[in-house]
Amino acid sequence: MKTVRALTLQTYGGPEATRLSAVPAPTAGPGQVLVSVRAAGLNALDWKVREGLVRDAFPLALPAVLGLELAGVVEAIGAGVTRLRPGDRVMGPLGRLGAYAELVAVDEARLALTPAALTDVAAAALPVAAMAGWQSLYFAGPVWGGQRVLVHGAAGALGRFAVQFAKRAGAFVVATAAGRDVAALRALGVDQVIDHETQRFEELVSDIHLVLDYVGGEVLERTWPVVAKGGVVVGTSSPEILTRTPAGQRGLWFVMTPDAALLARLAQQVARGELQAPVGQVLPLADLPAAIERHRTGALRGKTVIDFTA
Ligand SMILES: NC(=O)c1ccc[n+]([C@@H]2O[C@H](COP(=O)([O-])OP(=O)(O)OC[C@H]3O[C@@H](n4cnc5c(N)ncnc54)[C@H](OP(=O)(O)O)[C@@H]3O)[C@@H](O)[C@H]2O)c1
Repeated sequence: MKTVRALTLQTYGGPEATRLSAVPAPTAGPGQVLVSVRAAGLNALDWKVREGLVRDAFPLALPAVLGLELAGVVEAIGAGVTRLRPGDRVMGPLGRLGAYAELVAVDEARLALTPAALTDVAAAALPVAAMAGWQSLYFAGPVWGGQRVLVHGAAGALGRFAVQFAKRAGAFVVATAAGRDVAALRALGVDQVIDHETQRFEELVSDIHLVLDYVGGEVLERTWPVVAKGGVVVGTSSPEILTRTPAGQRGLWFVMTPDAALLARLAQQVARGELQAPVGQVLPLADLPAAIERHRTGALRGKTVIDFTA
C-alpha cells in the first residue's frame, strides 16, 4: 500500500497529541483532483481542533489529518473533473480538515489556479486569510466611504488583508496591533493604529460603525462601548459572540465560505502587486507540530506557511 507523510491528530490535547506519520495515499474520487502538496497554510484553527475546543463544529474520527488549506500540483483527476488537468498548479481551502499531507484528494470546485507569478508558499498563505478577510469585511453589508471600521488583531493573517480591503472601499480604518507591527499597518494605509500593549483602544476611539474582531475574549468585552448606534461587531474567533452580545447591540458570528472564484480574483491581485500578502515565516514539515503550539502561545507573527519541499 502506498503511503504519504501527514500530520495526524491522535487524540485531543497538547503538542504530543499530533504526530507526523505515514497514512494511506488517497485517490481522487468523482469530482476530485489529487493534489501533490507543495505548501500548506497554518491557522489558529489547527490548535483549537487539536485541543478539542471546536469538536462540535468539526467532529472528527481520530486519528485524523489536520490542515485547512494548501497549494500544489494536480497529479491525477477523478471522474467528472472538467476544469483542472494533471500538471496544473492549484491552491485552495479544503472546506474540511486534511491539508497537512503530501497527497490530498480535493473537490475540484474548491480550487483556483495558482497565478504563475506566485510561488506555492505565497499561494498557500492566501485561501483562508484572504477570503476570510474579504468575506468578514462585507459580512454585515456594504462598506461605504467614510465608514469607521475598527480591526482588532489587524497584524494577523486575516487583519492584514481586511485593512487593505477596507481602505480600498474608502473606509476610515482604525487597527489594534502590537507595537512592533504599527509601522507595517501604517504602510498598508491604516489611518489610526493603536498599540494594544501600551494603549487602551476604548479610550482613543468611538462611534465605530463596523468592528472586525479577530481576537475575541476580553477584547470583545471592551469593544461594545465604542460601537456607534446601529453599528455591528463581526467576530471570527469564537461563536461565543452570539451569547455575549449585550441587549441593544449587534454581534455576528462569521464563518468563511470557500469560494474559488473569489480566491482566484484575490490571488491575481496579489500577483499584480495590488494586494500585499506578506508571509510571516516559512517552516519545514518537521517543524509543524511545534509551529501549531507556537501559534497557540502567540509566538508567531503574521501568516505561517509550511513548505513541503524543504
Ligand atoms: N470563523 C472563520 O471562518 C475563521 C476563518 C479564519 C480565521 N478565524 C479565526 O479568526 C481569528 C484570527 O485569525 P488569524 O489567522 O488572523 O490569526 P492570527 O494570524 O494569529 O492573528 C491574530 C492577531 O491578533 C493579535 N492580537 C492578540 N491579542 C491582541 C489584542 N489584545 N489586541 C489586538 N491584537 C491582538 C496577534 O498579534 P500579537 O499577539 O503579536 O499582538 C495577531 O497578530 C482566529 O481566532 C482564527 O481562528 C476564523
